[in-house]
Parts: sequence; structure tokens; C-alpha cells
Amino acid sequence: MVSYNDSPAQTPVYLDKTAPVEERVKDALSRMTLEEKVALSHAQGKFSSAGVPRLGIPELWMSDGPHGVRAEINWNDWGYSGWTNDSVTAFPALTALAATWNPALAAVYGKNVGEEARYRRKDVLLGPGVNIYRSPLNGRNFEYMGEDPFLAGEMVVPYIQELQKNGVAACVKHFALNNQEKWRGNIDVEVSDRALYEIYLPAFKRAVEDGGAWSIMGAYNQYQGQHACHNKRLLQDILRGEWGFDGAVITDWGGAHDTREAALNGLDIEMGSFTNGLTKESEFTYDDYYLARPYLELIKSGEIPMSVVDEKAGNVLRLIFRTAMNTDKPFGSLHTPEHYAAAKAIGDESIVLLKNSGLLPLDPAKVRRVLVVGENAVRPLNQGGGSSELKVKDMFSPLEALKAVFETVDYAPGYKTGRAMYEAEDIIPEAELDSLRRDAVAKAPAYDAVIYIGGLNKNGFQDCEASDRREYNLPWGQDRIIEELAAANPNLVVANISGNAYAMPWLDKVPAVLQSWYLGTMIGPSMADVISGKVNPSGKLPFSFPRRLEDNGAHASGVESYPGVESESDAGNAAADLAGADVSLGKNPRQVYKEDILVGYRWHDTKKIPALFPFGHGLSYTTFEVGKPSLSSASMGADGSITLTVPVTNTGSRAGSETVQLYLTDVKSSVPRPAKELKGFEKVSLAPGESREVTFTITPDALKYFDADRHEWVAEPGRFKAHVATSSADVRHTVQFDYK
Ligand code: BGC
Repeated sequence: MVSYNDSPAQTPVYLDKTAPVEERVKDALSRMTLEEKVALSHAQGKFSSAGVPRLGIPELWMSDGPHGVRAEINWNDWGYSGWTNDSVTAFPALTALAATWNPALAAVYGKNVGEEARYRRKDVLLGPGVNIYRSPLNGRNFEYMGEDPFLAGEMVVPYIQELQKNGVAACVKHFALNNQEKWRGNIDVEVSDRALYEIYLPAFKRAVEDGGAWSIMGAYNQYQGQHACHNKRLLQDILRGEWGFDGAVITDWGGAHDTREAALNGLDIEMGSFTNGLTKESEFTYDDYYLARPYLELIKSGEIPMSVVDEKAGNVLRLIFRTAMNTDKPFGSLHTPEHYAAAKAIGDESIVLLKNSGLLPLDPAKVRRVLVVGENAVRPLNQGGGSSELKVKDMFSPLEALKAVFETVDYAPGYKTGRAMYEAEDIIPEAELDSLRRDAVAKAPAYDAVIYIGGLNKNGFQDCEASDRREYNLPWGQDRIIEELAAANPNLVVANISGNAYAMPWLDKVPAVLQSWYLGTMIGPSMADVISGKVNPSGKLPFSFPRRLEDNGAHASGVESYPGVESESDAGNAAADLAGADVSLGKNPRQVYKEDILVGYRWHDTKKIPALFPFGHGLSYTTFEVGKPSLSSASMGADGSITLTVPVTNTGSRAGSETVQLYLTDVKSSVPRPAKELKGFEKVSLAPGESREVTFTITPDALKYFDADRHEWVAEPGRFKAHVATSSADVRHTVQFDYK
């Protein structure tokens, strides 16, 4: 029965925004029933969780993430709601952001996408993702920030800080070890503590400790035989215990599988659970979620202590106070000119000039007739890819943008790929592909230049959630098209778009290669400006391009390492029955990260297997000289630091930017260490002839490895080398110092 309370009005502490947040949490908890506390911990719709209606505590509204705010989805199924006010700016995918090597742009990114999320009244943006790029076949690499934990960490912090100024929480994902899509729903990952701490956790740690992320998303996979969404070691020991996380842990959608584990191991909000062995959502309601009725029953039976319930509800309340109940937050804005300019600036700085024998830039005053070939010149790449799919207000295609730059621009598709679908693909008849290729190649000789814009797209088995790529080569016969175009016209620019590396058997025959990314709304203008020279490219690869798939550490180590192996029987594979319908599963799959700490360039360098294009590589239309570095001291102690200063000069005739990279080597170590590791970088913009000094501070932390037995970071005394480089393979100078 509803009772009527006529006592005089007094603002309760939980509503008092001037009160410390912990007091507000405590006060709110003291007023809540057990059922109300339980209701905070599970979904009430596809993308929202309940508040406390009786106390005026609002719901939480979440949205994907991470490179734009996803269109509204129906309350209780995955269909789009068909709203007319939810089209957005598509920002560049996070691979592109990482390729800028510019943390200031990560701040711009967070601010702008945050404003859109705020305008769309979202409390939690499901991103950014910082899973490490381990294999070029991972369908979701485009959503992450590359293969190096230091780079990803430097980029994720400003993104989160600026995003959250909008009163919108980052939900950093997918914690942890979700490094492939194949069997993501239940694969059990075995990884050494050293690789976990040195490679896979640092960017998450930075996101929590330095970015101050208010929420984190558990991953689908298992680790040590326990699902990541309720994994004691990951959530209780590391995230909360070691890093002091005070935000809310949210499941990936359908990532919860067990009430006891979810309750006791640190999960706060369960989202997206689906079948529980049933087939219809109508038979598995939100009340049936693991952290709903079954949770309430265990609490009532005394199996789950009230302290756990209060902690969980407290974590959710804290998230609500920071977001939905934050009365100081701005109102946000949607697809403004500033947002387009931000997307353009990020796109401009992300495109990587991989190779140039002098053909680029194509000067529109000289190059008048251009043939554009390749489906990605016109394909709406905001569609597909899975949860990061966006409904855009505008999408300026490369073809459209090139038409605005060059006098005559004609187009031939060259190939065709069909619809963007999840875990499925359209099969295009060979004869059709053949005739598209022939048509493009036949046209090519008549033009001053040919610009090929292909690569991967967001179809299933390409750069797409829920499945991995099936081959390292470019699909749909593109290798042949590129070879034939190169033979037909020597002025061929290959400007591929992807979120992953791929083989380039045609590389020697092509004079200029640009790597572009899923750049969203402004993809066309960014690509056209780089191609025509209005923008001088300054992107650097955030991951290595191996020559062959076997040259990548995860693949060199056999199938047990990637993709993992299934067991003969499905026995004991309870997870398979319980997971959501959109989660790819295998029969008890497990894998061992055999390359251990040697991920990406660490593998190429240490094993002396040169990459086709190394991590950190990217050319410019100008040239730079990196002068001799000097160290502030020849040695450093445990409390000290050393600065390394290096002059950089633009020796060419165009303004441009170079990213100076600092790698460190432990010359003699008691444990195997990578040949070198990135420990600093700075992007400098220089006018022609201009010089600037770049300064790096080296602290003992940069010298450490993770000693798994002692469970601590250790710097061993001895000699270290500091390499000043313009890519992981292009070291310009090396100096040495001692650690005492
Ligand atoms: C994805 C998450 C996403 C969620 C909600 C899952 O399938 O793995 O990254 O945020 O769906 O759409």
C-alpha cells in the first residue's frame, strides 16, 4: 500500500549535490528496500537499467560506442527503433585515433563524442576499447587502439577524461583478453602473468587510474576457466584490489552465466542476457536475469551477504550520481560543424603514407583525369561491423570528395561485396566479379592516374564483430585487380581502408600506398586532402603489417595459440547453452598465448623477422632529420630520472609532422625481454626549415618488467639503451645509460 508522508520537506542527503558522493551513496542505500537494490544490478531493457523510481533516482541509459552514438534500439529486441532524431556524426574508428599518435586529438575525440552522447541523453557510452591487437585476423581490431600498451594507454586517458566531462561515463571494454572474435563467447584464454601485466592490462589500468573511468565492461571470454564478466582474479583482485576501481562493472551483452559468481566476484550490472537455454526472450524476462530473481533468492537464503548487495548497489548508485543525476552536466550537441571538424582533423592525422616513390601527392593542377576504382570509394562504411554500427546524418564518400578536387573523375567499382551482415556474407558470382575487374582494368590506361580505394569492409568475416577474418590476403580478388591496374597504368595509388593489416603481394609493382581507416562522416574529405597534398600525411601505424600471417607471433605459435582448439565433446560446456544468441561459441575452446610478451613489433624485433611495414611507420611529403640525442645524465638511481633531448628538423619544403618515438632496451637481463619497447613518443609539427627539441623523461618505471613470482615490477641494475626512432624498425640514434 502506498503511504502518504506529510512531514516537512528537507533535502535528503542523496539528493544534495554538495554532499560527498560516498555520503550520498550511503544515504540512498539506507532508504532502499532489498528489491530496489537488486533491481539496480540488471537490465530492464536492451540498453537501460533501472533506477529507484520511488526515490527519484533515474535509470541508466547506455549506448554503443565507441566511435559515435548508436541509433536507438527497441526496448526488448535488437531491431532499430526508427527514431528520426538519432542520426549522428560518425567519428573515425579507434584504430584511426591511435594512428594519429596525438593524445591531444584523443581529448578532442572524447569531448566531441561525449557531447553527442549527452545530447542523445546517454549516461554510459560503451567504449572506448583497448584490447590489444594480437592477430591481424581479429574481426574487431578496428575498434581498438593497436598492438602497444603504452600507445593505447596514452591515447585512452584523454579520451575518457574529456568524454566524462559531459556527465557521460566511459565503459572501457572488453576487460580482459578478448583478443579475437572467433569463439569469443566461451574461449578460455591461458596467458602468463607477465604477458597479462606487461601487454594486456596496462591500457585498462591507465584508463582506470589516470583516466578515472566510471565503468568497465567485462569480456565474453573466459580466463582461468571463469568468465571474464564474473572473474574473481580480474575483477576483485586486479581491478578493484590493485587498481582501486570504484566504478561499476557492466557485463558485455550476454556475458553473465552464473548467479553466485556474478554476485560474489564483482559484477555490478548484468546486461543482454538472453536465452538460458530457452529460445524466446518472452520466456526469459529481465526478472530471470542471473542478477535478478535468482540473486534475490540467494540473498534471502543468506548465501549472499548484505555487504555484497550494498557494495554492488553502491557501485551503481555512484555511477548514477556521476552521470544521470549529475545536475552540473552540459546539454551536449549533435552533428555540429565542430564535430565534423574534429572528425576531419582526426582523420587527416590518421592516414598513413606507407610507400611513396614520388607519385603522391597528386597535384590537381597537373593530374586532371583520374579513375577511381574500388568499392570502398562509395560504400557506406558506417554500416555493419556489429555493435559499433552508426546511423549517420552525413557521410562524405571518397569518390564525392575526389570529384570536388580533380577536374575529371570517373569511377569503376572493380569488385563488389554485397550486404554488411553479421557472421554471414553475400556470395557474389565469379562471373560478375570477373567482369567488374576487367571493366576497371580496361579503363585504367586512359587516365593521368588511378586511385584504388579498396581494403576490407564491415561485412561478416572482415572487420566485423562476432567473427574473425578467414584469410590474411585482401578478399574478393583484390590482389589480382591491383596487380592488373598497376600493369595498366603506372600512376596507381593504392589507398586501402581497413582496421587490420593484410598481405600486399603487389607492393613492389605499386608506386604509392596509403593506409586509411574507417574514418566515418569525413572519410572522403580526409582522404582526398591527403591524396591531393592539401594535408601532409602524418599518421603512423599503431600495429605491424607482417609480410605473411606466419610472421605474426600469435600465428607463428600454431593453432593452440590462434585460434585455439576445441575439445572433442561438448560435455561440461554449460556456457554454450547460457550465452546470448549473438555470441560466437565453440566446443570448450581454449587457447594459450604462446608468443607471451612478444606481441606485435616485440615479436618482429626480437625474432628478427622484419615486418612488411613496421609498427610506428608512416611517411610524409616532407623530410625530417632527427639529430643526436643527449641525456641529462649517464646514470640514474631508483629515485631518479633522466631526460633525453633530441632535435628534429623539417628538412623539406612543406610543413609537416613527425612522431619521434623512444624505445628502450635492457641490455642484459635475467629474464627474456623484448628487443625494445616503446616508452615515449611525441608528434611535432614543423614548418619547412624549422627545428624543435623534443624532450622525454625516463623514469625507473620505464625500465621495469613484471616479475610474476614476486608479483611486482622490477628494474634490474645495469645498462640500458635508448633508441630515438621514427618507427620500430627505423632507429635514428641510440644512446646508453646505467641504472644503479
Ligand atoms: C559487444 C559490445 C557492445 C554490446 C552492446 C556486444 O555484442 O561485444 O562491445 O557494447 O554488444 O551492443
